[in-house]
Amino acid sequence: MSEEKFTKKILCIGAGYVGGPTMAMIAAKCPQYKVTVVDIDEKKIAAWQTDELPIYEPGLLDVVKQARGRNLFFTTELEKGIKEADIIFVSVNTPTKTFGEGAGKSADLQYWEKCARDIRSAAESDKIVVEKSTLPVKTAIAMERILNENDKGLHFEIVSNPEFLAEGSAIRDLENPDRVLIGSKETESGLKAREEIVEIFANWIPRDRLITSNLMSAELSKLVANSFLAQRISSINSISALCEIVDADVTEVANAIGKDSRIGNKFLNASVGFGGSCFKKDILNLVYLCETLGLYEVASYWESIVKMNEYQENRFVKTITQALFNTVTNKRIALFGFAFKANTSDTRESPAFYITKKLMEERAKVVITDPKALANAKRDLAGYNDAIEYVEDPYEAADKSHAVAIITEWDLYKTLDYERIYKQMEKPAFIFDGRNILDHQKLFEIGFNVYPLGKPHLIHFKEV
Ligand code: NAD
Ligand code: UDX
Repeated sequence: MSEEKFTKKILCIGAGYVGGPTMAMIAAKCPQYKVTVVDIDEKKIAAWQTDELPIYEPGLLDVVKQARGRNLFFTTELEKGIKEADIIFVSVNTPTKTFGEGAGKSADLQYWEKCARDIRSAAESDKIVVEKSTLPVKTAIAMERILNENDKGLHFEIVSNPEFLAEGSAIRDLENPDRVLIGSKETESGLKAREEIVEIFANWIPRDRLITSNLMSAELSKLVANSFLAQRISSINSISALCEIVDADVTEVANAIGKDSRIGNKFLNASVGFGGSCFKKDILNLVYLCETLGLYEVASYWESIVKMNEYQENRFVKTITQALFNTVTNKRIALFGFAFKANTSDTRESPAFYITKKLMEERAKVVITDPKALANAKRDLAGYNDAIEYVEDPYEAADKSHAVAIITEWDLYKTLDYERIYKQMEKPAFIFDGRNILDHQKLFEIGFNVYPLGKPHLIHFKEV
């Protein structure tokens, strides 16, 4: 299609886990639009142009291939991209601030604000700027002020379109989302911009799933959705600790409560703890917002979700240490999985990182295996590289180990030959199932001492 035939020209700034898949889906579903994705990271942009994409996401390559070169383009040319776009999605990272006021809680908005200033300086026509990144409430207002303080007489309309995709299922979530949220100012130009964005998603998503709201509601809803989801995990994880003491089974409890349609059965899997780049960051963002507004009780309520998560990670390591006769020093411990969840190579805020560090402090010999995340694991643990082994093959990782700990719920780990693994391991052999994905009774019969989460331990001798 020649340039003029494209009915909308969309630019996305930030070619990461959100920008890349989201824009690939828009381009695949809407051949009538030109979609350009720009990033400052040259290597990442180069990778988007090959079949070795910079992120692992099931089904992503197929979607990219449908549109790449046709109406989907990856580039580092920010200025050119800004000039030609009518609509600019901003999907840059908004990590937790590590310095100054709000350090450890509030969002670091430097990348976002730089984008606003870059847009303002390069733009030669009016534009809609869409917040795709997750941002503190009222960022849109600040951005509008920065953008509209220009001496070119240009008008920028800000729309908030927070992303709800989850990694590992991004393509499914983008193709068939529960809802798409589009917030704008309720002025004439705000409503017009809102409709422009609705129109994009209406190409493949039923209208009744395209929800609209004011700007602040959209920004806040994103923080609240992630906080509610994380709250469910911390709630069930807290109950897993109780189950282990009273001989209840957390899976049975989750099943029983989840049958109540008011509670629902999703997000009730007890685990080593939630990870990922979003949950902790977004809860802390909410906590910070409440604190700055003087809502201390509200802030402390939400902060407890993060504290419970830390407790669960810590509890998992303690269980390993105590089971291995109160010392893991010089013992080989195989961690099965380093990604923060299955079907992704992403290791950001993975509980595996904390668990590895704790085991290293106890001077264990940690060996890490993961089908997709080994490169990221190596990068995360760069300072410890000498002591930690990284192994592709789970059998090799388990060889001569005292314990295997399941950290990520990869399907691969459900189907391994555990008889073979048992034979290769030091005895007594221990297995800690941080995701409750294995057949615990069968493992016990093979000879393992089995420590599921939130269920009675299956051990061949009296616990010390
Ligand atoms: P990411 O780190 O994978 O990608 C962000 C990209 O932005 C990076 O490639 C970085 O190089 C680029 N970038 C930063 N500043 C830039 C600039 N000035 N110009 C051009 N490129 C620039 O981050 P992500 O996981 O895609 O998250 C992006 C946003 O979406 C965050 O606010 C996050 O909270 C939110 N979000 C993430 C997820 C998720 O599952 N990862 C889900 C929903 C929302
Ligand atoms: C999350 C939100 O789900 C998504 O809507 C938002 O856009 C981004 O943040 P993501 O972090 O990619 O997505 O994955 P998610 O499936 O939510 O899992 C987050 C963490 O919770 C993972 O570590 C996962 O293993 C853990 N988890 C999830 C549990 O421990 N138990 C569960 O029942 C569900």
